[in-house]
Amino acid sequence: MTIRNDIIVSGVCNFRITKESEQPVMSKSYTVAVAGATGAVGVEMIKTLEKRNFPVKELKLLASARSAGKTMEFRGEKLVIEEMTEKSFKGVDIALFSAGSDISRAYRQIVVDSGAVMIDNSSAFRMEDDVPLVVPEVNPEDIARHKGVIANPNCTTAIMLVAVAPLHRAKKLRRLVASTYQAASGAGAKGMQELIEQTRQILNGEAIDPKAFAHRIAFNLIPHIDSFCDNGYTKEELKMVNESRKMLHIPDLMVSCTSVRIPALRAHSESLNMEFEEEITPAEARAILEVASGVTVVDDPEAKRYPMPVDATEKYDVLAGRIRQDISRNDKRGLEMFVSGDQLLKGAALNAVQIAEHL
Ligand code: A2P
Repeated sequence: MTIRNDIIVSGVCNFRITKESEQPVMSKSYTVAVAGATGAVGVEMIKTLEKRNFPVKELKLLASARSAGKTMEFRGEKLVIEEMTEKSFKGVDIALFSAGSDISRAYRQIVVDSGAVMIDNSSAFRMEDDVPLVVPEVNPEDIARHKGVIANPNCTTAIMLVAVAPLHRAKKLRRLVASTYQAASGAGAKGMQELIEQTRQILNGEAIDPKAFAHRIAFNLIPHIDSFCDNGYTKEELKMVNESRKMLHIPDLMVSCTSVRIPALRAHSESLNMEFEEEITPAEARAILEVASGVTVVDDPEAKRYPMPVDATEKYDVLAGRIRQDISRNDKRGLEMFVSGDQLLKGAALNAVQIAEHL
């Protein structure tokens, strides 16, 4: 294995039994393909299928020709990675895709024609009307509308909505302003590798050569994720706007976002300012989130307990804390909250496997 996969695979996974890790009982077993098996998300998809005991009859590991013939482990068995081709999806029931938008677009019809359901982690189809965009804790009912493709949302949107949707269900969300602190893993295995390598280079006084990010990421932050649009927002920021509206079924939700890349390895954090139709106190919000699926409330400032990326890493749940009344208002309809969630798990691989479970 290369460094990039060692980084991801070698972490000790010590999953707690959480509310959202309760899984449906499944009597049938399925042939599953992971497209982009060697990538940062693909590796986590394979581990998540194993950890959650997904009923896999056969697992096909697909990647580029560069990886064909190498092996990866699943349930203690070495499986050979195959080059992804048009023939790869014969007999496949569920295809988990995380190899980038271009590849998802190129293979969509092939996967659907072969009778498999594509669960796609890229942004290629998220805003299409007949493609459900799903976080199972937020809008599981949308899964049934699929016509062969179900989209996984942008990682930051998924992490945010797991914590925001329960509050919206109780008090009706009107406006949401997010500032994000996004980890290097959002740029894939190469992003994580660049952060580690660049940190080492800078500490050793060596020259650096940024590739995965527009600027140096070690000991820095970059308020630029994805490309800029005419209105000054980045595509990443507009994904938060449009995907939130679609998943919460509030087309006119007022949303704004500033997305920032920071030198954390694999968990994203977000500062959220929320306005509701009805009054809501921090105590009420905590009580709602305590019983919500997929959320762990970590909110004890006196004890220095609040969500942090290192604590969210390799956890299934999104951590929510720093919950307080918005003091810029003179009513009780505004809340501030800070969340951290594992970008590779709830932001990608776990969400995709949960969608497969719901199917
Ligand atoms: P490979 O490792 O063979 O290049 P990440 O987002 O972490 O960079 O991962 C991207 C994933 O997409 C990898 O598994 C990569 O495989 C895969 N991939 C890239 N190009 C192709 C391609 N043309 N066909 C299939 N898989 C691809």
